[in-house]
Amino acid sequence: MRKKILVSGGAGYIGSHTVVELFLSGYMPVIIDNLCNTTIRNVNGINKILKTSIPFYNIDCTDYDKMSDFFLKNNDINAFIHFAAYKSVEESIKDPEKYYRNNIGSLEVILKCLSKCNLKNLIFSSSCTVYGMPDILPVDENSPFKKAESPYAETKQICEDLIRKDTLVNSVSLRYFNPIGSHDSGLIGDCSSDNASNLVPIVTEVACGIRDKLIVNGNDYNTHDGTCVRDYIHVQDLAVAHVKALDYLLDNKVKDFFNVGTGKGLSVLDIINEFQEANELKLNYVIGPRRAGDVEKIYSDGEKIKNILGWKAKRNTKEALISAWNWQISKNNT
Ligand code: NAD
Ligand code: WQD
Repeated sequence: MRKKILVSGGAGYIGSHTVVELFLSGYMPVIIDNLCNTTIRNVNGINKILKTSIPFYNIDCTDYDKMSDFFLKNNDINAFIHFAAYKSVEESIKDPEKYYRNNIGSLEVILKCLSKCNLKNLIFSSSCTVYGMPDILPVDENSPFKKAESPYAETKQICEDLIRKDTLVNSVSLRYFNPIGSHDSGLIGDCSSDNASNLVPIVTEVACGIRDKLIVNGNDYNTHDGTCVRDYIHVQDLAVAHVKALDYLLDNKVKDFFNVGTGKGLSVLDIINEFQEANELKLNYVIGPRRAGDVEKIYSDGEKIKNILGWKAKRNTKEALISAWNWQISKNNT
């Protein structure tokens, strides 16, 4: 019998890929998503990939009454994976309240519901932004939480703290670095309603002419080519990390946290060059000014997740950038 795993935000970008991996690994994912930043396309995509029908419920995780009612009616859940949150750094600076309300509010509701129904297993989507501007690279899990560079980052720091202080729940917080790419099938991906603000979605929009050019945010940083360095991880690898974290959480009553990255730092120009080469395309780009709040360089120390969860990224950047381009083409065709 498959263990039931409730996945909030399971129709979103990372959530949908994780739902697929969960099912393929023998779990029974159940999706809760209010579709505020995705579309039903991802749910249909999941079902097509898996040739089954994954249960989907349109519920707002900040609504305590509805969530509580859901838990009452579904008392056979084994674990909760909490992806549901807003994720735009830019928007969080313009409207911090919106981010505090949804990102912290949803976790508070979930912790209350877990406590009420005595469900102890929680996996939380955290982010490398909890480290702020790191002093030492690569960043390992003992690196301090520095000043948050945005309200978004602050919500992740606060949520990790709430989980740490919760006396009931066993948990794994996963601190993602920069997820990119899409499922090989081209059937699921990032369906965000907002304007793309992350590098790779902008790259693919430029490549297909939705935007006329990519502006590289500064080339005077102290890096190998002057542009910022990040740790870009294929979303399918990231999805697998959730399954490993879940196996670990169900076997061990722990409170733990892991970086999820490749350990490799790539610059903006590296990504542009790899994208052009991988997809045999020419990208129109110009060098612009620095973007406020950008971290110069950040990449993960992957030792802890490798040693404890036995997880390591398997896919390379080329595969990720080919899949990102596939997803753009598939979106353009529908
Ligand atoms: P996403 O926007 O694609 O997915 C989030 C999903 O949650 C969406 O489908 C949205 O409709 C849903 N949602 C949001 N608020 C909700 C609510 N109150 N009730 C029900 N559903 C709600 O984003 P993503 O990239 O898949 O990110 C998933 C998680 O990972 C988020 O917590 C995000 O902060 C975190 N994260 C993302 C990145 C990244 O670069 N994508 C990096 C680090 C951490
Ligand atoms: C990557 C690099 C930009 C756009 C954010 C969040 C992080 C995580 C991922 C959620 C930077 C440069 C970008 C462009 C550019 N999300 N860039 N031109 O800022 O590392 O991380 O998204 O948790 O938390 O902070 O990702 O993709 O926006 O930028 O030159 O048009 O690409 O300056 O150096 P970032 P990004």
